[in-house]
This record gives sequence, C-alpha cells and structure tokens, in this order.
Amino acid sequence: MNKFKGRDIIDINDFTKEDLLFILKTARRFDPDYVKKDRSNYEIAQGKIAAVLFFEPSTRTQQSFSSAAQKIGMGLIGFNDPELTSIHKGESFADTIRIMMAYADVMVIRHPEPGSARKAAEVADIPVINAGDGPNSHPTQTMLDMYTILKVCKRLDNLKIAFVGDPLHYRAFHGQFSALSKFSGNKFYGVSPKGLEMPEEFRNSSYHDVVIDMKNLDKTLTELKPDIVSVGRIPKEYIKGDATKYDFQVTVNTIKGLPRHAIVMHPLPRVNELDPKIDVSPKAVYFKQARNGLYIREALLALVLGRI
Ligand code: CP
Repeated sequence: MNKFKGRDIIDINDFTKEDLLFILKTARRFDPDYVKKDRSNYEIAQGKIAAVLFFEPSTRTQQSFSSAAQKIGMGLIGFNDPELTSIHKGESFADTIRIMMAYADVMVIRHPEPGSARKAAEVADIPVINAGDGPNSHPTQTMLDMYTILKVCKRLDNLKIAFVGDPLHYRAFHGQFSALSKFSGNKFYGVSPKGLEMPEEFRNSSYHDVVIDMKNLDKTLTELKPDIVSVGRIPKEYIKGDATKYDFQVTVNTIKGLPRHAIVMHPLPRVNELDPKIDVSPKAVYFKQARNGLYIREALLALVLGRI
C-alpha cells in the first residue's frame, strides 16, 4: 500500500527503515536492469505538473527530476535562476511558493538555506520534495545512494563504510550515516584530515574517526578493508581559510589496495578527489549511482502523487 500519497519528502530522518525499503523496491519498477522498459510508465502521472524550483546550481538533481517527471508523463514548470523571477523585484520566498503551488501538483525545491524545504512545505498544500537545503539535507540523494548500495552490494546491513573527505560538512555523508544506521551491523569510519571530523549528532557507537594525513590515504584504506569507500569533495564554500590544505585524491593505487568486492561511491560533482583514471574500474560506481537517481525520483514523484 502507498502511504506516501500527499507526503512531503524533507529529511531522511522522517523515514523508517521499512519506508526506505518500500521506496527502494518501488524504484526498481523504473530500472531497466530489473524490469523491461515499460511504455505504460509514461501514463502514470499524465496531466500532472511538477514545479522544479532551483535557487542554487545543480546538474544531477535538477536534470534527473526533470527527466523523471517527463518519463512518467508529467509536464514541467520551474526555474533554475531565481534572479529571472519576481524574486528579483522583491517577492518573498513564501509568496513564490504560494504562486508556484497554484500551477503545479508537486514541488521540487533546492535552496541554500537550511530548513527552506520544510518552510515551503508549511506554506504549500501540494507535496514538497527537498532537493537539497544547503548543508542540511538531501534526502533523495541518500535514497539513491541506498539504492546503489543495495543493487551492487546486495545488502544494506553488515557493511563497513569509509567516509573519505570532509565528514564535518559533507551532507551526503550525514545522510548515508543516518540511513544506514537504521540497518544492523554497519560500521562507519570517517577518514579525514584533523579538523574535519564528523559532528556529534552523526555519531553512534558504530562510528570511528580515522584522522590521518591524507597523503597516507592508500595505506589507511588498505588496512581498513572497507566494503564501501564513500568519497566526497571538500566543500570549500563551508570552510574558512585555505581549504586546499585538505586536498586529497583517490587514485589507481588507492583502488589497488581495496578488497576485491569493494566499491567507490561519490554523489558528484567531483573536483580533484577522484582521479578520472579510475572511472573504468568496476569498483567505480558513481556514474551508475547518478543514473539510479532517475529511478528513485520517478518512484518518489509517482508515490507522492498517489499514482502507484
Ligand atoms: N549530487 C548532486 O546533488 O549533484 P548536483 O548538485 O549536480 O545536483
């Protein structure tokens, strides 16, 4: 049964383990690796309109939501530059949401301000999907990360996950930690330079700091033997002072030292932290991960509209 009809998708912590498993299972319906391409998917939400409102830059989230909406038959409105809307004339955020909800059946919103998606949901009487609210939350990213892990690793429990980069600021790590903590036996390792350790609220007894000089990343990961190397860029926009001191790179050499079955994930965009030479490795799943966002977003749009 679909209990997501009319529901907002704001934060990964609003979902139980069972909710997440239901959404991941629903997403398979749109994934040609599980189900032969089904032309009837184009009829799922015919006549419905998605408002895709991006107040800050995006490639994957914006384009995959737009593609997902059209793949299930929806029409599309929205913007990706608020300066080209009446916000430029001084219209408030709340009024912008009120106006857009009058033209749409579901709203997808990315905004730099933490809490903005929740604020939009309080104003809107249509479902609101958070496509990233600053450093706070990006629940559909976490869901597609979970989908990728389940698809490749065949389980969501008893995994050893290394977060490599900036666990202090990187919201994708926070989302993965929160979601995977709902499953038993997972162990988390924050592999970072000193000063970028995970905040207290994203820790439990399964979380361990591995503070290193990032020049020693290869040796550290070889010894750690993770199932998943979850890499993220250093978000320089949140770091005061010289952030280049935190630079690191996962290379062919790093990959060589990992267990045979290990995978390397990254929400993308990458800057320099993944050497493009590793893209051809079967361990590198990040482009598949981005593609999986399409199936998750098709499922979520259909679910909140009550069309499946
Ligand atoms: N992973 C992600 O959210 O990418 P975009 O910023 O390009 O949407």
